[in-house]
Parts: sequence; structure tokens; C-alpha cells
Amino acid sequence: MTVTLWMAVSLNGMSAREDQSEDFLSKTDWEMFLELVRACEGVIWGRVTHQLFEQSVRSHFAELPIIVVTQNSTLSTKPGSIRASSPQEAVALLTRPGSNRILLAGGSQLNAAFAREGLIDEVILAIEPVVVAKGIPMVAPNAPDLRLSLVGVEDSRSPTLRLHYRVLKS
Ligand SMILES: NC(=O)c1ccc[n+]([C@@H]2O[C@H](COP(=O)([O-])OP(=O)(O)OC[C@H]3O[C@@H](n4cnc5c(N)ncnc54)[C@H](OP(=O)(O)O)[C@@H]3O)[C@@H](O)[C@H]2O)c1
Repeated sequence: MTVTLWMAVSLNGMSAREDQSEDFLSKTDWEMFLELVRACEGVIWGRVTHQLFEQSVRSHFAELPIIVVTQNSTLSTKPGSIRASSPQEAVALLTRPGSNRILLAGGSQLNAAFAREGLIDEVILAIEPVVVAKGIPMVAPNAPDLRLSLVGVEDSRSPTLRLHYRVLKS
């Protein structure tokens, strides 16, 4: 099972502005995200991202398993969305024989938690040609470095670049 971290970011790694707006991202980012969702067993994201994006993702994928990670044991979820209390529990909920890819789709805090637990196997980024000075970084500051090996670069949808990396695990 491969856990793939997906994020659409500015050139300097911002995933949203401080007010959560994503005006500097593009339609291409969204299309790349939907392609990845189609190729995975399910999506894991943090509670903040869940509340922002559940409806729009669900409108494309009625049956998609969505795992929302939260410390709130009373958070209510809609059909098809399941609560998990930790990154490990989230991965376990989607791990089945024959399944191959789980998408970790943010946000910053949950990505950092997955990085701390060594649970990220791949990183796929859509890079937009903009530098956003203030914002929410793709990984919150309380995370270790992730050393990466380049798997592929796609520039056919320029100016958005799609970068694919494998995480080097020691
Ligand atoms: N550009 C992109 O590709 C992209 C993708 C996704 C998100 N985003 C942006 O990222 C922003 C949201 O990121 P964020 O960092 O604020 O929030 P987040 O990571 O989506 O959610 C944070 C919440 O997740 C839960 N959580 C995180 N780590 C946990 C752990 N180890 N155990 C249990 N629960 C845990 C907590 O929920 P509780 O507080 O309920 O306990 C925490 O408050 C939004 O602005 C969104 O637009 C951008």
C-alpha cells in the first residue's frame, strides 16, 4: 500500500492563503487532483480540509471512501465519510488486500502528522507559477524533513508543473 501525499502549491510551497483562500491555484490543479482520486482506494484528510472540500469531492465521487482525521470523537460524518483519531487508524481503515494507493490530501497539520509517523511513501505536487509570501505551508513547521527521489516531471499542462517523488526512508 502506497500513501501518496498530494498538494497543489505556489512555487514556495504555500497551499492556501492565511484566510484559507486558494485564488492562486488553478483549474488544472483540480483536474490533476481528480485524476489521482480516481486512481486510489480512498482519500484521507484533516478535519479542516474535510469541512472545506467534502461536498465538492463527493459531487464527483459518490462512493469514494473519505477518512477525516480528528481528535473530536463526536464529529458527525455524512455517509461514505469515516472518522479516524490518528494517521495510523486512517491508513488502517483503507488498507485491504489488493488495494494499492491511498491519497493523503492535506492540510498542512495532518501532512505534518503523517510525516512525523513516517507514513508518507510518495509526494505528488502541482506547482503554480506564483510566489505567495504569507500562507499555509504544505507541511506545518513541526514536521521532520522528507528526503525525496525524483520519479517524474510533467510539463505538458504548463504553466502548472506536476512533480512526482518517492520518499527515501532510512
Ligand atoms: N492546496 C492544496 O492542495 C490543499 C489541500 C488540502 C488543504 N489545503 C488547505 O489547507 C488548509 C487546511 O489545513 P490545516 O493544516 O489548517 O488543517 P487540516 O490539516 O486539514 O486539519 C487539521 C485538523 O485535523 C485534525 N488532525 C490533524 N492532525 C491530527 C492527528 N495527528 N491526530 C488527530 N487529528 C489530527 C485536527 O482536527 P480536530 O481539530 O477536529 O481535532 C486538526 O485540527 C485549508 O486552507 C485548505 O484550503 C490545501
